[in-house]
Amino acid sequence: MMENNVDIKEQQPSYEHLLEVRNLKTSFFIPAGEVKSVDGTSFNVDKGKILGIVGESGSGKSVTAYSIMQILSYPGKIVGGSIKLEGRELVGLPEKELSKIRGGKISIIFQDPMTSLNPVYTIGNQLREAIMLHRRKQVPCKIKQVTKDENGKKVVTYVDGVKEVKPTRAEANARAIEMLQLVGINSPEKRLKQYPFEFSGGMLQRIMIAMALCCEPDLLIADEPTTALDVTIQAQILELIQDIQKKMGMAVILITHDLGVVAELCDEVIVMYGGKIVERGTADELFYNPKHEYTKGLLNSIPTNDNTNERLVPISGNAIDLLNLPDGCAFSPRCPHAMKVCLTKYPEEVDVNENHRCSCFMYVKEVLEEVKADIKNEKEVKKSTKQIIEEVTENA
Ligand SMILES: Nc1ncnc2c1ncn2[C@@H]1O[C@H](COP(=O)(O)OP(=O)(O)OP(=O)(O)O)[C@@H](O)[C@H]1O
Ligand code: SF4
Ligand SMILES: [Mg+2]
Repeated sequence: MMENNVDIKEQQPSYEHLLEVRNLKTSFFIPAGEVKSVDGTSFNVDKGKILGIVGESGSGKSVTAYSIMQILSYPGKIVGGSIKLEGRELVGLPEKELSKIRGGKISIIFQDPMTSLNPVYTIGNQLREAIMLHRRKQVPCKIKQVTKDENGKKVVTYVDGVKEVKPTRAEANARAIEMLQLVGINSPEKRLKQYPFEFSGGMLQRIMIAMALCCEPDLLIADEPTTALDVTIQAQILELIQDIQKKMGMAVILITHDLGVVAELCDEVIVMYGGKIVERGTADELFYNPKHEYTKGLLNSIPTNDNTNERLVPISGNAIDLLNLPDGCAFSPRCPHAMKVCLTKYPEEVDVNENHRCSCFMYVKEVLEEVKADIKNEKEVKKSTKQIIEEVTENA
Protein backbone atom coordinates (compact mmCIF):
# COMPACT_ATOMS: atom_id res chain seq x y z
CA MET A 1 0.00 0.00 0.00
CA MET A 2 1.26 3.48 -0.77
CA GLU A 3 1.56 6.39 1.64
CA ASN A 4 -1.27 8.89 2.28
CA ASN A 5 -2.53 11.25 -0.36
CA VAL A 6 -2.16 8.66 -3.06
CA ASP A 7 -4.93 7.82 -5.44
CA ILE A 8 -6.63 4.89 -3.72
CA LYS A 9 -9.23 4.01 -6.34
CA GLU A 10 -8.05 0.42 -6.54
CA GLN A 11 -8.79 -0.10 -2.82
CA GLN A 12 -12.39 1.05 -3.00
CA PRO A 13 -14.96 -1.67 -2.24
CA SER A 14 -17.49 -2.50 -4.92
CA TYR A 15 -21.04 -1.46 -4.25
CA GLU A 16 -24.48 -1.65 -5.79
CA HIS A 17 -26.11 1.46 -4.33
CA LEU A 18 -24.59 4.81 -3.41
CA LEU A 19 -26.04 4.57 0.10
CA GLU A 20 -27.10 1.30 1.71
CA VAL A 21 -28.79 1.46 5.09
CA ARG A 22 -29.39 -1.93 6.71
CA ASN A 23 -31.37 -2.65 9.86
CA LEU A 24 -30.47 0.75 11.32
CA LYS A 25 -31.36 1.15 14.98
CA THR A 26 -30.93 4.47 16.76
CA SER A 27 -32.09 5.08 20.31
CA PHE A 28 -32.15 7.90 22.82
CA PHE A 29 -31.38 6.81 26.35
CA ILE A 30 -33.38 9.04 28.64
CA PRO A 31 -34.17 8.57 32.35
CA ALA A 32 -37.60 7.13 31.50
CA GLY A 33 -36.04 4.44 29.26
CA GLU A 34 -34.83 3.69 25.75
CA VAL A 35 -36.59 5.64 23.02
CA LYS A 36 -36.27 3.58 19.84
CA SER A 37 -36.43 6.47 17.39
CA VAL A 38 -35.27 4.39 14.43
CA ASP A 39 -36.00 0.72 14.78
CA GLY A 40 -34.59 -1.52 12.08
CA THR A 41 -34.89 0.50 8.89
CA SER A 42 -33.29 -0.61 5.63
CA PHE A 43 -33.23 1.30 2.36
CA ASN A 44 -31.00 2.29 -0.55
CA VAL A 45 -30.34 5.55 -2.31
CA ASP A 46 -28.98 5.53 -5.85
CA LYS A 47 -26.88 8.09 -7.66
CA GLY A 48 -28.99 10.71 -9.43
CA LYS A 49 -32.21 9.71 -7.63
CA ILE A 50 -34.42 11.48 -5.09
CA LEU A 51 -35.69 9.44 -2.15
CA GLY A 52 -38.52 10.94 -0.12
CA ILE A 53 -38.98 10.17 3.58
CA VAL A 54 -42.42 11.06 4.90
CA GLY A 55 -44.20 10.56 8.18
CA GLU A 56 -45.89 12.35 11.05
CA SER A 57 -43.93 14.41 13.53
CA GLY A 58 -41.81 12.15 15.73
CA SER A 59 -41.78 9.22 13.28
CA GLY A 60 -37.98 9.15 13.07
CA LYS A 61 -37.27 11.05 9.83
CA SER A 62 -34.67 13.46 11.19
CA VAL A 63 -33.08 10.85 13.42
CA THR A 64 -32.60 8.70 10.30
CA ALA A 65 -30.88 11.65 8.58
CA TYR A 66 -28.75 12.50 11.62
CA SER A 67 -27.75 8.84 11.92
CA ILE A 68 -26.51 8.84 8.32
CA MET A 69 -24.55 12.05 8.99
CA GLN A 70 -23.66 10.77 12.51
CA ILE A 71 -24.52 14.08 14.08
CA LEU A 72 -26.86 12.68 16.73
CA SER A 73 -27.14 14.79 19.83
CA TYR A 74 -26.64 13.25 23.29
CA PRO A 75 -28.26 10.94 24.51
CA GLY A 76 -28.80 9.55 21.00
CA LYS A 77 -26.77 6.60 19.76
CA ILE A 78 -26.70 4.18 16.83
CA VAL A 79 -27.23 0.85 18.54
CA GLY A 80 -27.29 -1.45 15.54
CA GLY A 81 -27.14 -1.87 11.80
CA SER A 82 -25.03 -0.60 9.00
CA ILE A 83 -24.76 2.53 6.86
CA LYS A 84 -22.57 2.15 3.79
CA LEU A 85 -21.61 4.94 1.43
CA GLU A 86 -20.08 3.68 -1.81
CA GLY A 87 -19.65 0.34 -0.06
CA ARG A 88 -17.72 1.88 2.85
CA GLU A 89 -19.11 1.31 6.35
CA LEU A 90 -19.75 4.61 8.15
CA VAL A 91 -20.91 3.20 11.48
CA GLY A 92 -17.93 3.10 13.81
CA LEU A 93 -15.70 5.21 11.53
CA PRO A 94 -13.38 7.52 13.49
CA GLU A 95 -14.56 11.11 13.85
CA LYS A 96 -11.67 12.40 11.70
CA GLU A 97 -12.81 10.25 8.77
CA LEU A 98 -16.46 11.12 9.34
CA SER A 99 -15.75 14.84 9.23
CA LYS A 100 -14.20 14.39 5.77
CA ILE A 101 -17.36 12.64 4.61
CA ARG A 102 -19.67 15.26 6.10
CA GLY A 103 -19.73 18.24 3.79
CA GLY A 104 -17.41 16.49 1.36
CA LYS A 105 -19.51 13.48 0.34
CA ILE A 106 -22.77 13.97 2.22
CA SER A 107 -24.30 17.38 2.99
CA ILE A 108 -27.41 18.32 4.89
CA ILE A 109 -29.78 21.27 4.70
CA PHE A 110 -31.78 21.88 7.87
CA GLN A 111 -35.26 23.27 8.24
CA ASP A 112 -34.06 26.49 9.85
CA PRO A 113 -31.03 28.10 8.16
CA MET A 114 -30.27 30.12 11.27
CA THR A 115 -29.32 26.92 13.12
CA SER A 116 -26.49 26.39 10.64
CA LEU A 117 -25.31 29.94 9.90
CA ASN A 118 -23.25 31.92 12.37
CA PRO A 119 -24.78 35.39 12.79
CA VAL A 120 -21.43 37.07 13.52
CA TYR A 121 -19.62 36.04 10.32
CA THR A 122 -20.34 37.22 6.78
CA ILE A 123 -21.87 34.82 4.30
CA GLY A 124 -18.62 34.94 2.33
CA ASN A 125 -16.60 33.95 5.36
CA GLN A 126 -18.81 30.96 6.05
CA LEU A 127 -19.00 29.81 2.43
CA ARG A 128 -15.24 30.13 1.92
CA GLU A 129 -14.56 28.21 5.11
CA ALA A 130 -16.80 25.33 4.00
CA ILE A 131 -15.11 25.29 0.59
CA MET A 132 -11.58 25.36 2.03
CA LEU A 133 -12.42 22.63 4.50
CA HIS A 134 -14.03 20.19 2.12
CA ARG A 135 -13.25 21.06 -1.48
CA ARG A 136 -9.76 19.69 -1.84
CA LYS A 137 -8.06 19.70 -5.22
CA GLN A 138 -6.19 16.65 -6.39
CA VAL A 139 -2.79 17.50 -7.86
CA PRO A 140 -0.13 15.18 -9.25
CA CYS A 141 2.89 14.62 -7.05
CA LYS A 142 5.81 12.30 -6.45
CA ILE A 143 5.40 9.87 -3.55
CA LYS A 144 8.46 8.74 -1.67
CA GLN A 145 8.77 4.98 -1.22
CA VAL A 146 11.41 3.38 0.95
CA THR A 147 12.23 -0.29 0.42
CA LYS A 148 15.24 -2.49 1.20
CA ASP A 149 17.48 -4.21 -1.33
CA GLU A 150 18.81 -7.77 -1.00
CA ASN A 151 21.66 -6.52 1.26
CA GLY A 152 19.19 -4.86 3.63
CA LYS A 153 20.19 -1.40 2.42
CA LYS A 154 17.50 1.30 2.20
CA VAL A 155 16.45 2.20 -1.33
CA VAL A 156 14.46 5.39 -1.89
CA THR A 157 12.33 5.68 -5.03
CA TYR A 158 9.71 8.21 -6.12
CA VAL A 159 6.50 7.10 -7.81
CA ASP A 160 3.74 9.13 -9.46
CA GLY A 161 0.80 9.79 -7.17
CA VAL A 162 -1.93 12.30 -6.42
CA LYS A 163 -2.21 14.48 -3.36
CA GLU A 164 -5.02 16.64 -2.08
CA VAL A 165 -4.47 20.34 -1.44
CA LYS A 166 -6.76 23.01 -0.02
CA PRO A 167 -7.99 25.65 -2.47
CA THR A 168 -6.48 29.13 -2.05
CA ARG A 169 -8.62 31.95 -0.62
CA ALA A 170 -9.06 33.42 -4.12
CA GLU A 171 -10.17 30.05 -5.49
CA ALA A 172 -12.59 29.60 -2.58
CA ASN A 173 -13.97 33.08 -3.22
CA ALA A 174 -14.50 32.35 -6.92
CA ARG A 175 -16.28 29.10 -6.03
CA ALA A 176 -18.49 30.90 -3.47
CA ILE A 177 -19.54 33.43 -6.14
CA GLU A 178 -20.24 30.62 -8.59
CA MET A 179 -22.41 28.83 -6.01
CA LEU A 180 -24.42 31.95 -5.13
CA GLN A 181 -25.10 32.43 -8.84
CA LEU A 182 -26.19 28.81 -9.11
CA VAL A 183 -28.79 29.26 -6.37
CA GLY A 184 -30.11 32.46 -7.94
CA ILE A 185 -28.62 35.16 -5.72
CA ASN A 186 -27.94 38.42 -7.58
CA SER A 187 -24.81 40.56 -7.10
CA PRO A 188 -22.97 37.68 -5.42
CA GLU A 189 -19.72 39.67 -4.89
CA LYS A 190 -21.63 42.25 -2.84
CA ARG A 191 -23.72 39.61 -1.05
CA LEU A 192 -20.64 37.72 0.16
CA LYS A 193 -19.78 40.71 2.35
CA GLN A 194 -23.15 40.70 4.11
CA TYR A 195 -24.25 39.05 7.38
CA PRO A 196 -27.11 36.51 7.73
CA PHE A 197 -29.49 39.10 9.25
CA GLU A 198 -29.34 41.05 5.96
CA PHE A 199 -31.13 38.26 4.06
CA SER A 200 -34.75 37.08 3.93
CA GLY A 201 -35.68 33.51 5.01
CA GLY A 202 -35.91 32.30 1.40
CA MET A 203 -32.53 33.85 0.52
CA LEU A 204 -30.93 32.26 3.58
CA GLN A 205 -32.25 28.88 2.58
CA ARG A 206 -30.72 29.42 -0.89
CA ILE A 207 -27.41 30.22 0.80
CA MET A 208 -27.68 27.04 2.87
CA ILE A 209 -28.22 25.11 -0.35
CA ALA A 210 -25.14 26.82 -1.85
CA MET A 211 -23.17 25.91 1.27
CA ALA A 212 -24.34 22.29 1.16
CA LEU A 213 -23.53 21.96 -2.53
CA CYS A 214 -20.27 23.87 -2.79
CA CYS A 215 -18.25 20.69 -2.41
CA GLU A 216 -20.38 18.74 -4.87
CA PRO A 217 -21.53 16.07 -2.43
CA ASP A 218 -22.62 12.69 -3.76
CA LEU A 219 -25.63 12.79 -1.44
CA LEU A 220 -27.65 15.77 -0.27
CA ILE A 221 -30.05 15.36 2.66
CA ALA A 222 -32.73 18.05 2.80
CA ASP A 223 -34.56 17.85 6.15
CA GLU A 224 -37.83 19.74 5.69
CA PRO A 225 -35.96 22.46 3.79
CA THR A 226 -39.01 24.61 3.18
CA THR A 227 -41.14 24.25 6.31
CA ALA A 228 -40.08 27.64 7.67
CA LEU A 229 -40.90 29.44 4.41
CA ASP A 230 -44.10 30.78 2.91
CA VAL A 231 -45.83 28.81 0.16
CA THR A 232 -44.52 30.60 -2.96
CA ILE A 233 -40.93 30.58 -1.69
CA GLN A 234 -41.34 26.89 -0.76
CA ALA A 235 -42.13 26.04 -4.37
CA GLN A 236 -39.12 28.04 -5.62
CA ILE A 237 -36.72 26.33 -3.22
CA LEU A 238 -38.00 22.85 -4.09
CA GLU A 239 -37.69 23.65 -7.79
CA LEU A 240 -34.16 24.86 -7.16
CA ILE A 241 -33.19 21.64 -5.38
CA GLN A 242 -34.64 19.57 -8.22
CA ASP A 243 -32.94 21.73 -10.84
CA ILE A 244 -29.52 21.51 -9.18
CA GLN A 245 -29.97 17.80 -8.53
CA LYS A 246 -30.43 17.28 -12.27
CA LYS A 247 -27.46 19.48 -13.16
CA MET A 248 -25.11 17.91 -10.64
CA GLY A 249 -26.46 14.36 -10.84
CA MET A 250 -26.23 13.83 -7.09
CA ALA A 251 -28.57 11.73 -4.96
CA VAL A 252 -31.03 13.47 -2.64
CA ILE A 253 -32.94 12.38 0.46
CA LEU A 254 -35.87 14.75 0.84
CA ILE A 255 -37.59 14.68 4.22
CA THR A 256 -41.03 16.20 4.39
CA HIS A 257 -44.48 15.96 5.94
CA ASP A 258 -45.99 16.68 2.58
CA LEU A 259 -46.83 13.69 0.40
CA GLY A 260 -47.76 16.14 -2.37
CA VAL A 261 -44.15 17.33 -2.52
CA VAL A 262 -42.74 13.82 -2.68
CA ALA A 263 -45.16 12.83 -5.43
CA GLU A 264 -43.84 15.66 -7.58
CA LEU A 265 -40.13 15.44 -6.86
CA CYS A 266 -39.19 11.98 -5.69
CA ASP A 267 -38.40 8.78 -7.52
CA GLU A 268 -38.97 6.55 -4.49
CA VAL A 269 -40.64 7.16 -1.16
CA ILE A 270 -40.47 5.55 2.25
CA VAL A 271 -43.19 6.13 4.82
CA MET A 272 -42.12 6.02 8.48
CA TYR A 273 -44.20 5.36 11.56
CA GLY A 274 -42.80 4.81 15.04
CA GLY A 275 -39.23 4.50 13.77
CA LYS A 276 -40.08 1.82 11.21
CA ILE A 277 -40.76 1.87 7.48
CA VAL A 278 -44.39 0.85 7.02
CA GLU A 279 -44.68 1.35 3.28
CA ARG A 280 -42.33 2.07 0.38
CA GLY A 281 -42.43 2.30 -3.36
CA THR A 282 -42.26 4.59 -6.33
CA ALA A 283 -43.80 8.00 -5.74
CA ASP A 284 -46.64 7.24 -8.17
CA GLU A 285 -47.45 3.94 -6.44
CA LEU A 286 -47.64 5.53 -2.99
CA PHE A 287 -49.57 8.54 -4.15
CA TYR A 288 -52.11 6.79 -6.38
CA ASN A 289 -52.18 3.32 -4.86
CA PRO A 290 -51.46 3.63 -1.12
CA LYS A 291 -52.06 0.44 0.85
CA HIS A 292 -51.16 1.10 4.48
CA GLU A 293 -53.90 2.86 6.44
CA TYR A 294 -51.30 5.29 7.80
CA THR A 295 -50.18 6.34 4.29
CA LYS A 296 -53.82 6.75 3.31
CA GLY A 297 -54.27 8.90 6.41
CA LEU A 298 -51.28 11.06 5.48
CA LEU A 299 -52.72 11.55 2.01
CA ASN A 300 -56.13 12.50 3.37
CA SER A 301 -54.60 15.09 5.62
CA ILE A 302 -52.88 17.14 2.89
CA PRO A 303 -54.61 19.97 1.06
CA THR A 304 -55.18 19.57 -2.69
CA ASN A 305 -55.07 22.30 -5.34
CA ASP A 306 -58.33 21.45 -7.03
CA ASN A 307 -60.61 23.74 -5.01
CA THR A 308 -63.03 20.95 -4.20
CA ASN A 309 -63.53 22.29 -0.67
CA GLU A 310 -62.98 18.77 0.58
CA ARG A 311 -62.42 18.55 4.32
CA LEU A 312 -58.98 17.43 5.43
CA VAL A 313 -59.17 14.37 7.61
CA PRO A 314 -56.52 14.04 10.31
CA ILE A 315 -55.37 10.52 11.20
CA SER A 316 -57.47 9.47 14.16
CA GLY A 317 -55.98 8.53 17.53
CA ASN A 318 -52.97 9.81 19.40
CA ALA A 319 -49.51 10.08 17.99
CA ILE A 320 -47.31 7.16 18.95
CA ASP A 321 -45.56 7.04 22.33
CA LEU A 322 -42.17 5.45 21.62
CA LEU A 323 -41.69 4.58 25.29
CA ASN A 324 -44.92 2.62 25.39
CA LEU A 325 -45.16 0.83 22.09
CA PRO A 326 -48.04 -1.61 21.72
CA ASP A 327 -47.21 -5.25 21.06
CA GLY A 328 -47.64 -6.17 17.42
CA CYS A 329 -48.30 -3.50 14.81
CA ALA A 330 -47.50 -0.05 16.24
CA PHE A 331 -50.35 1.46 14.22
CA SER A 332 -52.96 -0.96 15.63
CA PRO A 333 -54.43 1.48 18.22
CA ARG A 334 -55.28 3.85 15.37
CA CYS A 335 -56.07 1.40 12.59
CA PRO A 336 -59.70 0.93 11.52
CA HIS A 337 -58.89 -2.58 10.23
CA ALA A 338 -56.88 -3.91 13.17
CA MET A 339 -57.30 -7.69 13.52
CA LYS A 340 -56.45 -10.02 16.38
CA VAL A 341 -53.08 -10.88 14.86
CA CYS A 342 -52.15 -7.18 14.63
CA LEU A 343 -52.19 -6.91 18.41
CA THR A 344 -49.56 -9.58 18.97
CA LYS A 345 -47.28 -9.82 15.91
CA TYR A 346 -45.36 -7.23 13.93
CA PRO A 347 -46.23 -7.41 10.22
CA GLU A 348 -43.15 -8.11 8.08
CA GLU A 349 -42.82 -6.27 4.80
CA VAL A 350 -44.54 -7.94 1.84
CA ASP A 351 -44.61 -7.15 -1.88
CA VAL A 352 -47.70 -5.37 -3.11
CA ASN A 353 -46.13 -5.41 -6.57
CA GLU A 354 -42.59 -5.08 -7.91
CA ASN A 355 -42.50 -1.33 -7.17
CA HIS A 356 -44.31 -1.36 -3.87
CA ARG A 357 -43.92 -2.96 -0.42
CA CYS A 358 -46.04 -2.64 2.68
CA SER A 359 -45.93 -3.83 6.32
CA CYS A 360 -49.52 -4.74 7.01
CA PHE A 361 -51.28 -8.04 7.68
CA MET A 362 -54.02 -7.01 5.28
CA TYR A 363 -51.58 -7.93 2.49
CA VAL A 364 -50.40 -11.25 3.90
CA LYS A 365 -52.46 -13.94 2.19
CA GLU A 366 -52.00 -16.62 4.89
CA VAL A 367 -53.12 -14.25 7.63
CA LEU A 368 -56.19 -13.31 5.66
CA GLU A 369 -57.06 -16.94 5.06
CA GLU A 370 -56.89 -17.51 8.82
CA VAL A 371 -58.94 -14.42 9.54
CA LYS A 372 -61.54 -15.51 7.04
CA ALA A 373 -61.72 -18.95 8.63
CA ASP A 374 -62.06 -17.33 12.06
CA ILE A 375 -64.90 -15.12 11.05
CA LYS A 376 -68.06 -16.70 12.30
CA ASN A 377 -70.31 -13.78 11.82
CA GLU A 378 -69.48 -11.97 8.55
CA LYS A 379 -71.44 -8.91 9.59
CA GLU A 380 -68.90 -8.22 12.30
CA VAL A 381 -66.28 -7.39 9.70
CA LYS A 382 -66.36 -3.84 8.48
CA LYS A 383 -67.32 -3.52 4.82
CA SER A 384 -64.06 -1.79 3.80
CA THR A 385 -62.00 -4.50 5.54
CA LYS A 386 -63.96 -7.17 3.68
CA GLN A 387 -63.34 -5.41 0.38
CA ILE A 388 -59.58 -5.28 0.95
CA ILE A 389 -59.52 -8.95 1.98
CA GLU A 390 -61.41 -9.91 -1.18
CA GLU A 391 -59.23 -7.75 -3.39
CA VAL A 392 -55.99 -9.13 -1.96
CA THR A 393 -57.14 -12.74 -2.11
CA GLU A 394 -58.23 -12.24 -5.71
CA ASN A 395 -54.90 -10.65 -6.74
CA ALA A 396 -52.77 -13.18 -4.88
N1 LIG B 1 -32.74 14.69 21.74
C1 LIG B 1 -33.67 13.75 21.93
N2 LIG B 1 -33.90 13.21 23.15
C2 LIG B 1 -34.82 12.25 23.34
N3 LIG B 1 -35.59 11.74 22.35
C3 LIG B 1 -35.43 12.24 21.11
C4 LIG B 1 -34.46 13.29 20.83
N4 LIG B 1 -34.52 13.56 19.51
C5 LIG B 1 -35.48 12.75 19.00
N5 LIG B 1 -36.01 11.97 19.96
C6 LIG B 1 -37.07 10.95 19.80
O1 LIG B 1 -37.01 10.44 18.49
C7 LIG B 1 -38.28 10.52 17.87
C8 LIG B 1 -38.09 10.80 16.42
O2 LIG B 1 -37.61 12.13 16.29
P1 LIG B 1 -37.36 12.79 14.89
O3 LIG B 1 -36.72 14.11 15.17
O4 LIG B 1 -36.63 11.88 13.98
O5 LIG B 1 -38.83 13.00 14.34
P2 LIG B 1 -39.27 13.55 12.91
O6 LIG B 1 -39.95 12.46 12.19
O7 LIG B 1 -38.11 14.20 12.24
O8 LIG B 1 -40.37 14.61 13.34
P3 LIG B 1 -40.62 16.12 12.81
O9 LIG B 1 -41.46 15.94 11.59
O10 LIG B 1 -41.36 16.76 13.94
O11 LIG B 1 -39.31 16.77 12.54
C9 LIG B 1 -39.04 11.59 18.63
O12 LIG B 1 -40.39 11.28 18.71
C10 LIG B 1 -38.44 11.55 20.01
O13 LIG B 1 -39.17 10.64 20.78
S1 SF4 C 1 -51.09 -4.69 10.43
FE1 SF4 C 1 -53.15 -4.59 11.24
S2 SF4 C 1 -53.18 -2.82 12.63
FE2 SF4 C 1 -51.34 -2.68 11.36
S3 SF4 C 1 -51.96 -1.38 9.69
FE3 SF4 C 1 -52.28 -3.47 9.00
S4 SF4 C 1 -54.41 -3.95 9.53
FE4 SF4 C 1 -53.85 -2.10 10.63
MG1 LIG D 1 -37.60 16.18 11.82
